[in-house]
Amino acid sequence: MSSNRGLEDVVAGTTALCLIDGRQGRLIYRGIDIHAMIGRSSFEETAYLLWFGSLPTRSQLNDLNKKFAAERRLPAEIQMLLKAIAKKASPMAALRTMVSALAIYDPDAEDPSRDANLRKAIRMTARFPSIIADYHRLRNNHDPIPSDASLGHAANFLYILTGRIPDRTVTGMFDACLILHADHEFNASTFAARVTAATLSDAYSAVTSAIGALKGPLHGGANEQVIKLLSAIGTPDRVEEYIQGMMSRKEKVPGFGHRVYKTEDPRATHLRKFSQELAQKTGDSKWYEMSRRVEEAMIASGMKARGICANVDFYSASTYHYLGIPTDLFTPVFALSRVVGWTAHVLEQYADNRLIRPMGEYTGPQEVPYVPIEQRG
Ligand SMILES: CC(C)(COP(=O)(O)OP(=O)(O)OC[C@H]1O[C@@H](n2cnc3c(N)ncnc32)[C@H](O)[C@@H]1OP(=O)(O)O)[C@@H](O)C(=O)NCCC(=O)NCCS
Repeated sequence: MSSNRGLEDVVAGTTALCLIDGRQGRLIYRGIDIHAMIGRSSFEETAYLLWFGSLPTRSQLNDLNKKFAAERRLPAEIQMLLKAIAKKASPMAALRTMVSALAIYDPDAEDPSRDANLRKAIRMTARFPSIIADYHRLRNNHDPIPSDASLGHAANFLYILTGRIPDRTVTGMFDACLILHADHEFNASTFAARVTAATLSDAYSAVTSAIGALKGPLHGGANEQVIKLLSAIGTPDRVEEYIQGMMSRKEKVPGFGHRVYKTEDPRATHLRKFSQELAQKTGDSKWYEMSRRVEEAMIASGMKARGICANVDFYSASTYHYLGIPTDLFTPVFALSRVVGWTAHVLEQYADNRLIRPMGEYTGPQEVPYVPIEQRG
């Protein structure tokens, strides 16, 4: 028996949601290339596409938007719980705990029907922004800001986080970021969600599993590490020396490399552009310039030739920074979008389910005699 470490190249199931071509650098949602969606589609439309299988008509989209707006408010018990933990819990720990708790106050929680699971998908997606923004405000001794039903998902989140309604450019860019993060085939957190769903556990449990997996620095946590890296480097002129030092110590540079992409991550193409545009708009070029120089230093050290390129987290870090999102909220913001992919995969898993239970290759000792505790030395 042999195993691929980390299940590399193992096809673990089928999906009609998302196709990644890691050699060509293509990402496709339900047959539509993400490059065709950016600048034209919206996060809400992407959610509809992933959940229902095709782009919505105008009235279907209006209906979904109404449902999102109606579901944003957190139950009173959840608001109290959030207040109780906000100063103590880290952002991802808070999100994980609150999503798990939401199940307790959702009458649909244990209903396994597709209709109930769709309602839960919409509800969770509508409530992630409220959890994240309210958590942030509460930990800073500010009252949560009620959602504005006239704002879409992207604008409303920035509004309830900062108290300012973003302009059209910023809204459009953040909306595009949400589209880019919405799904990514059998990535670690989605796989965790599917494994949980495949036991026929409920959708909240599946999403809670996914949040736990996304939290790690090898997955969603990498975007936060990127800003920490740029801050540690300090100024653009120190980039080359710093990256060379990391390379010589064989340290991994956050925001680079990918299990599937061996060329430019198509999401990075857009995020690089957003970072550049925001650097110009804000008049603060430092973060974009440093990011560019890190990327150039990685190329110069031969990383691109080895297929190690900027991934989704690299330029999303400076983009989110320019958008005024606090660094430790970067990974929750990733989750705010990815919850759509998680729930779409959970729905797909339930629709044609079989328990996911692989095998392990045993490498331990054989035929070891049992020694009673009195005789152990
Ligand atoms: C994404 C990631 C976890 C993929 O991991 P993986 O497929 O298991 O690949 P490995 O960690 O085995 O890396 C393969 C080789 O590339 C190198 N490599 C991978 N990512 C690297 C990085 N970011 N910086 C420097 N070297 C890197 C590894 O050191 C290893 O080199 P070796 O063969 O000489 O030992 C990995 O690239 C990484 O840790 N990146 C940084 C974290 C990150 O940005 N995560 C977000 C992903 S969207």
